[in-house]
Amino acid sequence: MAHHYSDRPNAIKDATGNFDRSNAAIPPRTAENYKPMDDDRETLWVLPDNLEIGFVSETYIPALRFKALAPLYDVIVRLTTREATVKQALIDAAITRDVRTVVDIGCGSGTLTVAIKRQFPKARVIGVDLDEQMLGYAQRKTENVDLSVELIKADATHLPLDDGLADRVVSSLFFHHLYPKQKRQALAETMRVLAPGGELYVADWGRPSNLLMRALFFPVRLLDGLPNTADHVRGRLPELITQAGADRVESLAEYSTVFGTLTLLRAIKAG
Ligand SMILES: C[S@@+](CC[C@H](N)C(=O)[O-])C[C@H]1O[C@@H](n2cnc3c(N)ncnc32)[C@H](O)[C@@H]1O
Repeated sequence: MAHHYSDRPNAIKDATGNFDRSNAAIPPRTAENYKPMDDDRETLWVLPDNLEIGFVSETYIPALRFKALAPLYDVIVRLTTREATVKQALIDAAITRDVRTVVDIGCGSGTLTVAIKRQFPKARVIGVDLDEQMLGYAQRKTENVDLSVELIKADATHLPLDDGLADRVVSSLFFHHLYPKQKRQALAETMRVLAPGGELYVADWGRPSNLLMRALFFPVRLLDGLPNTADHVRGRLPELITQAGADRVESLAEYSTVFGTLTLLRAIKAG
């Protein structure tokens, strides 16, 4: 089901003609405002077609840049990003038995989301992504293991989640898909939905640890985009997280991969 909100008469466009939802109000997540993706997928919620305002960017950068490559996503990420090691390190650092609500932003095909739910079945686990195809893969993973994960189609710059809802926000390989302004908005939204004292964990491309890592990262930059990866190659993500209001940001680990250096960051929201 495709949503083309900019075709609607009341769509908000900026001076360049691009769709801009920065002023759009976010509807509360109720049954009237959202609906299940289809009848037998009760946990996947999307905005109904007749909703006049929307907040799913049409200019987002899909996983692997081209939608046609989406079916290859899991295999490529598994083979090239030391996925099992990095995602498990994130879970080990981020989630403890007392964690109640975890939001995975830019959850894509849901590998991390489902792993968290599988290891911490009592936690409420919410995955957010704006790509229905990727959410569909995530939904299949939850069905395969018969786990109840909430998957929401939304733009990370406008999260339809209550203030202070989450004690953890996690994210993997996501922020480098956002342009600088979107990164700032998504980080502000992250801080908003985190409870006081809540923690953000991000695994994403960071400053290359040596010249080889820098060279290996270049194809990723060409594929995913130069402006959106610039802050990453300069190692500026921690600074942006601090600017969004985090109390403390620290780098927990670095991983050399065939596509460059992945960093695992932790940020804490003031209590
Ligand atoms: C490289 S994938 C990462 C998926 C997953 N987190 C992982 O570790 O495999 C990046 C994801 O970010 C999503 N994405 C891009 N822009 C987004 C936005 N503005 N809001 C929400 N999701 C977005 C894409 O749809 C894609 O699924």
